[in-house]
Amino acid sequence: MGHAIPRSASVAVIGAGAMGAGIAQIAAVAGHPVQLLDLKPGAAATAIAGIRATLAKLAAKGKISAADADTAGARLQVAETTAALAGAALVVEAVVERLDVKRALFAELEAIVAPDCILASNTSSISVTAIAAGLQRPQRVLGMHFFNPAPLMALVEVVSGLATDPALAQAVFDLAAAWGKSPVHTKSTPGFIVNRVARPYYAEALNLLAEQAADAATLDAVMRDAGGFRMGPFELMDLIGHDVNLAVTRSVFQAYHHDPRFAPSLIQQELVDAGYLGRKTGRGFFSHGDTAARPQPHDEPAAALANGVTLWPGLTNELTNTLTSALAARLRAAGVPFTLQDRAHADGRVLRVGDAVVYLTDGRSATQRARDNGVEATVLLDLALDYATAPRVALCAADGCLPAACTAAVAVFQAAGFAVSRLDDVPGMAVMRTVAMLANEAADAVYQGVCDAAAADVAMQKGVNYPRGPLAWGQSVGLRHVLTVLDHLAAAYGAYRYRASALLRRKVASGQSFHAG
Ligand code: NAI
Repeated sequence: MGHAIPRSASVAVIGAGAMGAGIAQIAAVAGHPVQLLDLKPGAAATAIAGIRATLAKLAAKGKISAADADTAGARLQVAETTAALAGAALVVEAVVERLDVKRALFAELEAIVAPDCILASNTSSISVTAIAAGLQRPQRVLGMHFFNPAPLMALVEVVSGLATDPALAQAVFDLAAAWGKSPVHTKSTPGFIVNRVARPYYAEALNLLAEQAADAATLDAVMRDAGGFRMGPFELMDLIGHDVNLAVTRSVFQAYHHDPRFAPSLIQQELVDAGYLGRKTGRGFFSHGDTAARPQPHDEPAAALANGVTLWPGLTNELTNTLTSALAARLRAAGVPFTLQDRAHADGRVLRVGDAVVYLTDGRSATQRARDNGVEATVLLDLALDYATAPRVALCAADGCLPAACTAAVAVFQAAGFAVSRLDDVPGMAVMRTVAMLANEAADAVYQGVCDAAAADVAMQKGVNYPRGPLAWGQSVGLRHVLTVLDHLAAAYGAYRYRASALLRRKVASGQSFHAG
Protein backbone atom coordinates (compact mmCIF):
# COMPACT_ATOMS: atom_id res chain seq x y z
CA MET A 1 0.00 0.00 0.00
CA GLY A 2 2.95 2.31 -0.61
CA HIS A 3 0.86 4.70 -2.64
CA ALA A 4 -2.23 5.12 -0.50
CA ILE A 5 -3.28 8.77 -0.40
CA PRO A 6 -4.35 9.75 3.13
CA ARG A 7 -7.11 12.20 3.99
CA SER A 8 -4.52 14.63 5.26
CA ALA A 9 -2.84 14.78 1.85
CA SER A 10 -3.10 18.10 0.11
CA VAL A 11 -5.03 18.17 -3.17
CA ALA A 12 -4.58 20.90 -5.77
CA VAL A 13 -7.24 21.59 -8.38
CA ILE A 14 -6.35 23.72 -11.38
CA GLY A 15 -9.15 25.35 -13.32
CA ALA A 16 -12.04 26.70 -11.25
CA GLY A 17 -14.77 26.22 -13.86
CA ALA A 18 -17.74 23.89 -13.59
CA MET A 19 -15.64 20.76 -13.27
CA GLY A 20 -12.75 22.11 -11.17
CA ALA A 21 -15.13 23.62 -8.61
CA GLY A 22 -17.02 20.33 -8.35
CA ILE A 23 -13.83 18.33 -7.89
CA ALA A 24 -12.54 20.78 -5.26
CA GLN A 25 -15.84 20.44 -3.38
CA ILE A 26 -15.61 16.63 -3.39
CA ALA A 27 -12.02 16.63 -2.12
CA ALA A 28 -12.76 19.18 0.62
CA VAL A 29 -15.83 17.28 1.83
CA ALA A 30 -13.70 14.12 1.90
CA GLY A 31 -11.34 15.87 4.32
CA HIS A 32 -8.42 17.04 2.20
CA PRO A 33 -6.87 20.48 2.36
CA VAL A 34 -7.63 21.80 -1.14
CA GLN A 35 -5.97 24.53 -3.15
CA LEU A 36 -7.77 25.91 -6.14
CA LEU A 37 -5.93 27.76 -8.89
CA ASP A 38 -7.27 29.53 -11.95
CA LEU A 39 -5.63 31.66 -14.57
CA LYS A 40 -8.42 34.20 -14.43
CA PRO A 41 -7.99 36.58 -11.47
CA GLY A 42 -10.73 36.13 -8.91
CA ALA A 43 -12.11 32.95 -10.51
CA ALA A 44 -10.85 30.62 -7.78
CA ALA A 45 -12.19 32.87 -5.00
CA THR A 46 -15.57 33.08 -6.71
CA ALA A 47 -15.63 29.31 -7.12
CA ILE A 48 -14.77 28.78 -3.44
CA ALA A 49 -17.53 31.17 -2.38
CA GLY A 50 -19.88 29.20 -4.61
CA ILE A 51 -18.83 25.87 -3.08
CA ARG A 52 -19.32 27.25 0.45
CA ALA A 53 -22.80 28.43 -0.52
CA THR A 54 -23.56 24.97 -1.92
CA LEU A 55 -22.33 23.34 1.28
CA ALA A 56 -24.47 25.72 3.37
CA LYS A 57 -27.49 24.75 1.26
CA LEU A 58 -26.74 21.06 1.75
CA ALA A 59 -26.53 21.70 5.51
CA ALA A 60 -29.84 23.60 5.47
CA LYS A 61 -31.42 20.61 3.76
CA GLY A 62 -29.94 18.29 6.38
CA LYS A 63 -27.74 16.42 3.88
CA ILE A 64 -24.62 17.22 5.90
CA SER A 65 -24.18 18.76 9.33
CA ALA A 66 -23.60 22.50 9.61
CA ALA A 67 -20.28 21.79 11.35
CA ASP A 68 -19.16 19.54 8.47
CA ALA A 69 -20.16 22.18 5.94
CA ASP A 70 -18.09 24.76 7.82
CA THR A 71 -14.99 22.61 8.19
CA ALA A 72 -15.16 21.45 4.55
CA GLY A 73 -15.56 25.06 3.43
CA ALA A 74 -12.58 26.08 5.54
CA ARG A 75 -10.36 23.47 3.85
CA LEU A 76 -10.57 25.36 0.55
CA GLN A 77 -7.90 27.86 -0.30
CA VAL A 78 -7.12 30.03 -3.27
CA ALA A 79 -3.68 29.43 -4.80
CA GLU A 80 -2.36 32.49 -6.60
CA THR A 81 0.45 30.75 -8.49
CA THR A 82 1.58 27.24 -9.36
CA ALA A 83 4.50 27.78 -6.96
CA ALA A 84 1.99 27.64 -4.10
CA LEU A 85 1.17 24.04 -5.00
CA ALA A 86 4.58 22.64 -3.96
CA GLY A 87 3.09 20.59 -1.11
CA ALA A 88 0.35 18.86 -3.15
CA ALA A 89 0.18 15.05 -3.16
CA LEU A 90 -2.30 15.09 -6.03
CA VAL A 91 -2.96 17.72 -8.69
CA VAL A 92 -6.15 17.45 -10.73
CA GLU A 93 -6.28 19.76 -13.71
CA ALA A 94 -9.62 20.82 -15.18
CA VAL A 95 -8.46 23.65 -17.46
CA VAL A 96 -9.41 24.17 -21.09
CA GLU A 97 -9.58 21.07 -23.28
CA ARG A 98 -6.33 21.71 -25.16
CA LEU A 99 -3.36 19.37 -25.33
CA ASP A 100 -0.78 22.18 -25.55
CA VAL A 101 -2.20 23.95 -22.48
CA LYS A 102 -2.37 20.77 -20.40
CA ARG A 103 1.14 19.69 -21.41
CA ALA A 104 2.63 23.08 -20.60
CA LEU A 105 0.85 23.14 -17.26
CA PHE A 106 2.17 19.72 -16.24
CA ALA A 107 5.67 20.59 -17.44
CA GLU A 108 5.57 23.69 -15.25
CA LEU A 109 4.26 21.68 -12.28
CA GLU A 110 7.01 19.06 -12.57
CA ALA A 111 9.54 21.66 -11.50
CA ILE A 112 7.44 22.58 -8.46
CA VAL A 113 5.77 19.53 -6.92
CA ALA A 114 7.40 16.61 -5.10
CA PRO A 115 8.60 13.67 -7.23
CA ASP A 116 5.84 11.44 -5.89
CA CYS A 117 3.02 13.92 -6.50
CA ILE A 118 0.41 12.47 -8.86
CA LEU A 119 -0.60 14.60 -11.86
CA ALA A 120 -4.17 13.89 -12.94
CA SER A 121 -6.15 15.33 -15.82
CA ASN A 122 -9.93 15.59 -15.97
CA THR A 123 -9.80 15.56 -19.76
CA SER A 124 -12.72 13.88 -21.47
CA SER A 125 -11.20 13.52 -24.92
CA ILE A 126 -7.44 14.08 -24.97
CA SER A 127 -5.02 11.16 -24.86
CA VAL A 128 -3.48 10.82 -21.42
CA THR A 129 -0.49 9.23 -23.12
CA ALA A 130 -0.05 12.40 -25.19
CA ILE A 131 -0.41 14.69 -22.16
CA ALA A 132 2.32 12.72 -20.37
CA ALA A 133 4.67 12.55 -23.34
CA GLY A 134 7.85 14.54 -22.91
CA LEU A 135 7.52 14.94 -19.14
CA GLN A 136 10.35 13.81 -16.89
CA ARG A 137 8.04 11.43 -15.04
CA PRO A 138 5.23 10.40 -17.38
CA GLN A 139 4.53 7.44 -15.09
CA ARG A 140 2.81 9.73 -12.58
CA VAL A 141 0.39 11.20 -15.11
CA LEU A 142 -3.09 9.72 -15.38
CA GLY A 143 -6.67 10.66 -16.12
CA MET A 144 -9.19 11.25 -13.37
CA HIS A 145 -12.31 11.79 -15.45
CA PHE A 146 -15.30 13.07 -13.50
CA PHE A 147 -18.75 13.58 -14.96
CA ASN A 148 -20.82 16.73 -14.84
CA PRO A 149 -21.99 17.69 -12.23
CA ALA A 150 -19.03 16.08 -10.43
CA PRO A 151 -20.45 16.16 -6.88
CA LEU A 152 -23.58 14.30 -8.06
CA MET A 153 -22.28 11.87 -10.66
CA ALA A 154 -20.69 8.79 -9.10
CA LEU A 155 -18.46 7.69 -11.94
CA VAL A 156 -14.76 8.44 -12.12
CA GLU A 157 -12.82 6.95 -15.03
CA VAL A 158 -9.26 6.40 -13.86
CA VAL A 159 -7.36 6.53 -17.13
CA SER A 160 -3.95 4.95 -17.59
CA GLY A 161 -1.72 6.18 -20.39
CA LEU A 162 1.02 4.08 -21.91
CA ALA A 163 3.53 5.16 -19.27
CA THR A 164 1.24 5.35 -16.24
CA ASP A 165 2.41 3.45 -13.16
CA PRO A 166 -0.34 0.92 -12.36
CA ALA A 167 0.26 1.40 -8.62
CA LEU A 168 -0.57 5.10 -8.97
CA ALA A 169 -3.69 4.33 -11.00
CA GLN A 170 -4.74 1.99 -8.20
CA ALA A 171 -4.01 4.66 -5.57
CA VAL A 172 -6.24 7.15 -7.41
CA PHE A 173 -8.90 4.47 -7.87
CA ASP A 174 -8.86 3.79 -4.11
CA LEU A 175 -8.95 7.51 -3.40
CA ALA A 176 -12.00 8.01 -5.61
CA ALA A 177 -13.68 5.09 -3.83
CA ALA A 178 -12.83 6.69 -0.47
CA TRP A 179 -14.50 9.87 -1.75
CA GLY A 180 -17.68 7.85 -2.20
CA LYS A 181 -17.35 7.60 -5.98
CA SER A 182 -17.66 4.56 -8.25
CA PRO A 183 -14.27 4.46 -9.99
CA VAL A 184 -13.38 2.26 -12.95
CA HIS A 185 -10.03 1.57 -14.52
CA THR A 186 -9.64 2.28 -18.21
CA LYS A 187 -6.88 2.62 -20.76
CA SER A 188 -6.24 5.85 -22.58
CA THR A 189 -8.19 5.17 -25.79
CA PRO A 190 -10.53 7.52 -27.68
CA GLY A 191 -13.61 8.32 -25.58
CA PHE A 192 -12.31 6.10 -22.75
CA ILE A 193 -15.32 3.96 -21.73
CA VAL A 194 -18.38 6.19 -21.50
CA ASN A 195 -17.88 8.51 -24.44
CA ARG A 196 -17.11 5.53 -26.65
CA VAL A 197 -19.72 3.00 -25.52
CA ALA A 198 -22.43 5.71 -25.48
CA ARG A 199 -21.94 6.58 -29.18
CA PRO A 200 -24.59 4.13 -30.45
CA TYR A 201 -27.21 5.70 -28.19
CA TYR A 202 -26.99 8.83 -30.34
CA ALA A 203 -25.91 7.21 -33.61
CA GLU A 204 -28.71 4.64 -33.79
CA ALA A 205 -31.32 7.26 -32.92
CA LEU A 206 -29.98 9.55 -35.64
CA ASN A 207 -29.91 6.65 -38.09
CA LEU A 208 -33.50 5.75 -37.23
CA LEU A 209 -34.55 9.34 -37.78
CA ALA A 210 -32.65 9.48 -41.06
CA GLU A 211 -34.50 6.33 -42.12
CA GLN A 212 -37.80 7.94 -41.10
CA ALA A 213 -38.58 5.15 -38.66
CA ALA A 214 -40.63 7.69 -36.66
CA ASP A 215 -40.36 11.30 -35.56
CA ALA A 216 -37.92 12.37 -32.85
CA ALA A 217 -40.55 12.73 -30.10
CA THR A 218 -41.88 9.23 -30.76
CA LEU A 219 -38.41 7.67 -30.81
CA ASP A 220 -37.60 9.49 -27.54
CA ALA A 221 -40.78 8.14 -25.96
CA VAL A 222 -39.92 4.60 -27.07
CA MET A 223 -36.39 4.82 -25.66
CA ARG A 224 -37.70 6.24 -22.38
CA ASP A 225 -40.90 4.29 -21.84
CA ALA A 226 -39.90 0.97 -23.40
CA GLY A 227 -36.11 1.18 -23.10
CA GLY A 228 -36.15 2.59 -19.58
CA PHE A 229 -33.58 5.29 -20.40
CA ARG A 230 -33.92 8.41 -18.31
CA MET A 231 -33.89 10.67 -21.35
CA GLY A 232 -34.62 9.99 -24.99
CA PRO A 233 -31.64 10.44 -27.32
CA PHE A 234 -33.02 13.52 -29.07
CA GLU A 235 -33.96 15.46 -25.94
CA LEU A 236 -30.60 14.41 -24.49
CA MET A 237 -28.69 15.73 -27.53
CA ASP A 238 -30.72 18.96 -27.28
CA LEU A 239 -29.58 19.21 -23.66
CA ILE A 240 -25.91 18.39 -24.33
CA GLY A 241 -25.81 20.76 -27.31
CA HIS A 242 -25.43 19.54 -30.89
CA ASP A 243 -22.12 21.33 -31.33
CA VAL A 244 -20.68 19.53 -28.29
CA ASN A 245 -22.25 16.14 -29.13
CA LEU A 246 -21.10 16.32 -32.76
CA ALA A 247 -17.60 17.36 -31.68
CA VAL A 248 -17.32 14.32 -29.39
CA THR A 249 -18.60 12.03 -32.16
CA ARG A 250 -16.14 13.55 -34.64
CA SER A 251 -13.22 13.24 -32.27
CA VAL A 252 -13.97 9.57 -31.57
CA PHE A 253 -14.58 8.93 -35.31
CA GLN A 254 -11.27 10.53 -36.24
CA ALA A 255 -9.39 8.85 -33.43
CA TYR A 256 -10.66 5.46 -34.61
CA HIS A 257 -9.43 6.22 -38.12
CA HIS A 258 -12.91 6.71 -39.54
CA ASP A 259 -14.40 3.46 -38.38
CA PRO A 260 -17.93 3.71 -39.89
CA ARG A 261 -19.39 2.58 -36.57
CA PHE A 262 -18.66 6.07 -35.24
CA ALA A 263 -19.61 8.06 -38.33
CA PRO A 264 -21.22 11.43 -37.55
CA SER A 265 -24.79 12.11 -38.67
CA LEU A 266 -25.76 14.44 -41.50
CA ILE A 267 -28.91 15.35 -39.61
CA GLN A 268 -26.90 16.57 -36.65
CA GLN A 269 -24.51 18.38 -38.95
CA GLU A 270 -27.51 20.22 -40.44
CA LEU A 271 -28.66 21.32 -36.99
CA VAL A 272 -25.20 22.66 -36.19
CA ASP A 273 -25.01 24.43 -39.56
CA ALA A 274 -28.36 26.05 -38.85
CA GLY A 275 -27.31 27.15 -35.37
CA TYR A 276 -30.01 24.94 -33.85
CA LEU A 277 -27.74 23.79 -31.05
CA GLY A 278 -30.44 22.66 -28.63
CA ARG A 279 -31.68 24.13 -25.37
CA LYS A 280 -28.96 26.74 -25.24
CA THR A 281 -30.15 28.36 -28.46
CA GLY A 282 -33.85 27.70 -27.86
CA ARG A 283 -34.06 25.22 -30.69
CA GLY A 284 -32.63 21.85 -31.60
CA PHE A 285 -34.74 18.86 -32.53
CA PHE A 286 -37.38 20.50 -30.38
CA SER A 287 -38.32 24.06 -29.50
CA HIS A 288 -37.31 25.12 -26.01
CA GLY A 289 -38.19 28.02 -23.81
CA ASP A 290 -41.09 28.89 -21.54
CA THR A 291 -43.77 28.89 -24.19
CA ALA A 292 -42.60 25.78 -26.04
CA ALA A 293 -44.97 22.84 -25.87
CA ARG A 294 -43.52 19.54 -24.69
CA PRO A 295 -42.99 17.38 -27.78
CA GLN A 296 -45.69 14.73 -28.02
CA PRO A 297 -45.04 11.23 -29.30
CA HIS A 298 -47.35 9.80 -31.90
CA ASP A 299 -49.38 7.02 -30.25
CA GLU A 300 -51.49 4.56 -32.15
CA PRO A 301 -55.17 5.41 -31.76
CA ALA A 302 -57.14 3.21 -29.36
CA ALA A 303 -58.18 -0.01 -31.07
CA ALA A 304 -60.82 -2.44 -29.81
CA LEU A 305 -59.68 -6.01 -29.27
CA ALA A 306 -62.01 -8.07 -31.45
CA ASN A 307 -60.08 -11.32 -31.83
CA GLY A 308 -58.93 -14.10 -29.57
CA VAL A 309 -55.33 -13.95 -28.41
CA THR A 310 -52.94 -16.88 -28.35
CA LEU A 311 -49.63 -16.62 -26.51
CA TRP A 312 -46.63 -18.83 -27.15
CA PRO A 313 -44.05 -19.56 -24.47
CA GLY A 314 -40.50 -18.47 -25.19
CA LEU A 315 -38.53 -20.68 -27.49
CA THR A 316 -35.07 -19.37 -27.83
CA ASN A 317 -34.11 -17.73 -24.59
CA GLU A 318 -35.11 -16.45 -21.21
CA LEU A 319 -36.17 -13.09 -22.56
CA THR A 320 -38.98 -14.48 -24.67
CA ASN A 321 -40.10 -16.47 -21.61
CA THR A 322 -40.18 -13.37 -19.42
CA LEU A 323 -41.88 -11.53 -22.24
CA THR A 324 -44.69 -14.06 -22.58
CA SER A 325 -45.19 -14.30 -18.82
CA ALA A 326 -45.31 -10.53 -18.51
CA LEU A 327 -47.84 -10.29 -21.33
CA ALA A 328 -49.93 -13.07 -19.79
CA ALA A 329 -49.90 -11.33 -16.41
CA ARG A 330 -50.86 -7.97 -17.92
CA LEU A 331 -53.67 -9.43 -19.99
CA ARG A 332 -54.93 -11.38 -16.99
CA ALA A 333 -54.87 -8.23 -14.84
CA ALA A 334 -56.85 -6.41 -17.53
CA GLY A 335 -59.37 -9.22 -17.69
CA VAL A 336 -58.53 -10.08 -21.29
CA PRO A 337 -58.97 -13.78 -22.06
CA PHE A 338 -56.23 -15.55 -24.00
CA THR A 339 -55.02 -19.03 -24.79
CA LEU A 340 -51.57 -20.06 -23.66
CA GLN A 341 -49.93 -22.66 -25.89
CA ASP A 342 -47.93 -25.18 -23.94
CA ARG A 343 -45.31 -25.56 -26.64
CA ALA A 344 -43.18 -22.95 -28.31
CA HIS A 345 -43.56 -22.49 -32.05
CA ALA A 346 -40.54 -23.13 -34.21
CA ASP A 347 -40.68 -19.72 -35.88
CA GLY A 348 -40.22 -17.89 -32.57
CA ARG A 349 -43.65 -16.27 -32.44
CA VAL A 350 -44.80 -14.46 -29.31
CA LEU A 351 -48.53 -14.24 -29.97
CA ARG A 352 -51.23 -14.53 -32.56
CA VAL A 353 -54.32 -12.34 -32.83
CA GLY A 354 -56.63 -12.61 -35.83
CA ASP A 355 -54.37 -12.95 -38.84
CA ALA A 356 -51.49 -11.14 -37.21
CA VAL A 357 -48.52 -12.97 -35.75
CA VAL A 358 -46.25 -10.99 -33.45
CA TYR A 359 -42.57 -11.82 -33.10
CA LEU A 360 -39.81 -10.27 -31.03
CA THR A 361 -37.49 -8.44 -33.41
CA ASP A 362 -34.33 -10.34 -34.30
CA GLY A 363 -32.80 -7.66 -36.50
CA ARG A 364 -34.62 -8.62 -39.70
CA SER A 365 -37.24 -6.27 -41.02
CA ALA A 366 -40.82 -7.45 -40.60
CA THR A 367 -41.08 -7.67 -44.37
CA GLN A 368 -38.00 -9.89 -44.58
CA ARG A 369 -39.26 -12.05 -41.76
CA ALA A 370 -42.70 -12.35 -43.36
CA ARG A 371 -40.99 -13.70 -46.43
CA ASP A 372 -38.77 -16.06 -44.42
CA ASN A 373 -41.64 -17.39 -42.29
CA GLY A 374 -44.35 -17.28 -44.91
CA VAL A 375 -46.61 -15.26 -42.61
CA GLU A 376 -47.89 -12.23 -44.47
CA ALA A 377 -49.33 -10.44 -41.42
CA THR A 378 -46.01 -10.33 -39.57
CA VAL A 379 -45.78 -7.75 -36.79
CA LEU A 380 -42.60 -7.18 -34.81
CA LEU A 381 -42.28 -6.18 -31.20
CA ASP A 382 -39.35 -4.08 -30.00
CA LEU A 383 -37.32 -4.78 -26.88
CA ALA A 384 -38.46 -3.34 -23.56
CA LEU A 385 -36.34 -3.11 -20.42
CA ASP A 386 -39.13 -4.77 -18.44
CA TYR A 387 -42.25 -5.96 -20.22
CA ALA A 388 -44.03 -6.36 -16.89
CA THR A 389 -43.93 -2.64 -16.11
CA ALA A 390 -43.12 -0.77 -19.34
CA PRO A 391 -45.78 1.85 -20.18
CA ARG A 392 -45.05 1.62 -23.91
CA VAL A 393 -43.92 -0.73 -26.63
CA ALA A 394 -43.02 -0.19 -30.25
CA LEU A 395 -44.38 -2.33 -33.07
CA CYS A 396 -43.76 -2.46 -36.79
CA ALA A 397 -45.48 -4.43 -39.52
CA ALA A 398 -44.46 -6.11 -42.76
CA ASP A 399 -45.30 -4.26 -45.95
CA GLY A 400 -47.81 -6.95 -46.85
CA CYS A 401 -49.63 -6.84 -43.50
CA LEU A 402 -53.19 -5.61 -43.95
CA PRO A 403 -54.22 -2.64 -41.76
CA ALA A 404 -56.83 -4.70 -39.92
CA ALA A 405 -54.24 -7.29 -38.91
CA CYS A 406 -51.88 -4.60 -37.71
CA THR A 407 -54.67 -2.93 -35.72
CA ALA A 408 -55.49 -6.25 -34.07
CA ALA A 409 -51.90 -6.53 -32.85
CA VAL A 410 -51.96 -2.95 -31.59
CA ALA A 411 -55.20 -3.72 -29.73
CA VAL A 412 -53.62 -6.61 -27.79
CA PHE A 413 -50.83 -4.42 -26.45
CA GLN A 414 -53.20 -1.58 -25.67
CA ALA A 415 -55.45 -4.01 -23.81
CA ALA A 416 -52.38 -5.07 -21.81
CA GLY A 417 -51.90 -1.43 -20.79
CA PHE A 418 -49.17 -0.33 -23.18
CA ALA A 419 -49.16 2.84 -25.23
CA VAL A 420 -48.16 1.65 -28.68
CA SER A 421 -45.76 3.43 -31.02
CA ARG A 422 -45.82 2.18 -34.56
CA LEU A 423 -42.45 2.47 -36.25
CA ASP A 424 -41.73 2.07 -39.92
CA ASP A 425 -40.39 -1.37 -40.80
CA VAL A 426 -36.73 -0.74 -39.89
CA PRO A 427 -34.42 -3.66 -39.12
CA GLY A 428 -33.83 -4.18 -35.40
CA MET A 429 -36.41 -1.53 -34.40
CA ALA A 430 -35.32 1.11 -31.88
CA VAL A 431 -34.57 -0.30 -28.41
CA MET A 432 -33.30 -3.70 -29.58
CA ARG A 433 -31.00 -2.18 -32.15
CA THR A 434 -29.64 0.37 -29.70
CA VAL A 435 -29.11 -2.11 -26.88
CA ALA A 436 -27.44 -4.59 -29.26
CA MET A 437 -25.05 -1.89 -30.47
CA LEU A 438 -24.33 -0.67 -26.92
CA ALA A 439 -23.56 -4.22 -25.80
CA ASN A 440 -21.44 -4.73 -28.91
CA GLU A 441 -19.42 -1.59 -28.27
CA ALA A 442 -18.91 -2.55 -24.63
CA ALA A 443 -17.86 -6.03 -25.72
CA ASP A 444 -15.33 -4.56 -28.13
CA ALA A 445 -13.94 -2.27 -25.43
CA VAL A 446 -13.45 -5.34 -23.23
CA TYR A 447 -11.96 -7.26 -26.17
CA GLN A 448 -9.41 -4.52 -26.73
CA GLY A 449 -8.46 -4.36 -23.07
CA VAL A 450 -9.86 -0.86 -22.55
CA CYS A 451 -11.63 -2.08 -19.42
CA ASP A 452 -13.14 -5.21 -17.94
CA ALA A 453 -16.79 -6.19 -18.29
CA ALA A 454 -17.77 -5.03 -14.81
CA ALA A 455 -16.18 -1.62 -15.44
CA ALA A 456 -18.04 -1.22 -18.74
CA ASP A 457 -21.37 -1.80 -17.01
CA VAL A 458 -20.60 0.37 -13.98
CA ALA A 459 -19.39 3.17 -16.24
CA MET A 460 -22.60 3.32 -18.28
CA GLN A 461 -24.85 3.11 -15.24
CA LYS A 462 -22.96 5.64 -13.14
CA GLY A 463 -21.68 7.94 -15.86
CA VAL A 464 -24.77 8.29 -18.06
CA ASN A 465 -27.51 6.73 -15.90
CA TYR A 466 -28.31 3.78 -18.17
CA PRO A 467 -30.95 1.60 -16.53
CA ARG A 468 -28.72 -1.46 -16.90
CA GLY A 469 -25.10 -2.01 -17.88
CA PRO A 470 -24.93 -2.85 -21.60
CA LEU A 471 -23.26 -6.24 -21.10
CA ALA A 472 -25.63 -7.31 -18.32
CA TRP A 473 -28.47 -6.10 -20.53
CA GLY A 474 -27.14 -8.05 -23.49
CA GLN A 475 -26.98 -11.10 -21.28
CA SER A 476 -30.57 -10.70 -20.18
CA VAL A 477 -31.62 -10.42 -23.82
CA GLY A 478 -29.43 -13.43 -24.51
CA LEU A 479 -26.01 -12.96 -26.11
CA ARG A 480 -27.01 -15.30 -28.90
CA HIS A 481 -30.01 -13.14 -29.70
CA VAL A 482 -27.88 -9.98 -29.58
CA LEU A 483 -25.47 -11.58 -32.03
CA THR A 484 -28.35 -12.62 -34.30
CA VAL A 485 -29.68 -9.04 -34.26
CA LEU A 486 -26.25 -7.67 -35.16
CA ASP A 487 -25.71 -10.20 -37.94
CA HIS A 488 -29.11 -9.35 -39.40
CA LEU A 489 -28.35 -5.62 -39.17
CA ALA A 490 -25.03 -6.24 -40.86
CA ALA A 491 -26.80 -8.12 -43.64
CA ALA A 492 -29.35 -5.31 -44.04
CA TYR A 493 -26.99 -2.35 -43.93
CA GLY A 494 -23.61 -3.63 -44.96
CA ALA A 495 -21.35 -5.60 -42.74
CA TYR A 496 -18.85 -3.14 -41.38
CA ARG A 497 -20.90 -0.69 -39.36
CA TYR A 498 -22.87 -3.41 -37.60
CA ARG A 499 -20.10 -6.00 -37.41
CA ALA A 500 -20.29 -7.99 -34.22
CA SER A 501 -17.37 -7.88 -31.86
CA ALA A 502 -15.20 -10.98 -32.11
CA LEU A 503 -15.49 -11.31 -28.34
CA LEU A 504 -19.29 -11.38 -28.48
CA ARG A 505 -19.09 -14.08 -31.14
CA ARG A 506 -16.65 -16.04 -29.00
CA LYS A 507 -18.84 -15.78 -25.89
CA VAL A 508 -21.77 -17.13 -27.86
CA ALA A 509 -19.67 -19.95 -29.29
CA SER A 510 -18.33 -20.94 -25.87
CA GLY A 511 -21.61 -20.41 -24.06
CA GLN A 512 -19.82 -18.21 -21.53
CA SER A 513 -21.04 -14.92 -20.12
CA PHE A 514 -19.31 -11.61 -19.54
CA HIS A 515 -19.96 -11.55 -15.83
CA ALA A 516 -19.24 -14.40 -13.50
CA GLY A 517 -22.43 -15.39 -11.71
P1 NAI B 1 -14.67 25.68 -17.85
O1 NAI B 1 -14.46 26.49 -19.07
O2 NAI B 1 -15.93 25.82 -17.07
O3 NAI B 1 -13.46 25.97 -16.83
C1 NAI B 1 -12.12 25.98 -17.20
C2 NAI B 1 -11.40 26.91 -16.23
O4 NAI B 1 -9.99 26.74 -16.40
C3 NAI B 1 -11.71 28.39 -16.47
O5 NAI B 1 -12.07 28.99 -15.24
C4 NAI B 1 -10.37 28.96 -16.99
O6 NAI B 1 -10.15 30.27 -16.58
C5 NAI B 1 -9.38 28.02 -16.36
N1 NAI B 1 -8.10 27.88 -17.08
C6 NAI B 1 -7.91 27.77 -18.41
N2 NAI B 1 -6.61 27.61 -18.67
C7 NAI B 1 -5.94 27.61 -17.49
C8 NAI B 1 -4.59 27.45 -17.10
N3 NAI B 1 -3.64 27.26 -18.00
N4 NAI B 1 -4.31 27.50 -15.79
C9 NAI B 1 -5.28 27.69 -14.87
N5 NAI B 1 -6.58 27.84 -15.18
C10 NAI B 1 -6.91 27.79 -16.47
O7 NAI B 1 -14.43 24.16 -18.30
P2 NAI B 1 -15.01 22.81 -17.64
O8 NAI B 1 -16.29 22.49 -18.27
O9 NAI B 1 -14.94 22.91 -16.17
O10 NAI B 1 -13.95 21.74 -18.20
C11 NAI B 1 -12.66 21.67 -17.73
C12 NAI B 1 -12.01 20.37 -18.15
O11 NAI B 1 -12.82 19.27 -17.74
C13 NAI B 1 -11.82 20.19 -19.65
O12 NAI B 1 -10.64 19.45 -19.86
C14 NAI B 1 -13.03 19.38 -20.05
O13 NAI B 1 -12.83 18.63 -21.22
C15 NAI B 1 -13.16 18.46 -18.85
N6 NAI B 1 -14.50 17.91 -18.63
C16 NAI B 1 -15.62 18.68 -18.79
C17 NAI B 1 -16.88 18.14 -18.56
C18 NAI B 1 -18.11 18.96 -18.75
O14 NAI B 1 -19.19 18.36 -18.87
N7 NAI B 1 -18.03 20.27 -18.75
C19 NAI B 1 -17.03 16.74 -18.14
C20 NAI B 1 -15.79 16.06 -17.92
C21 NAI B 1 -14.59 16.62 -18.19
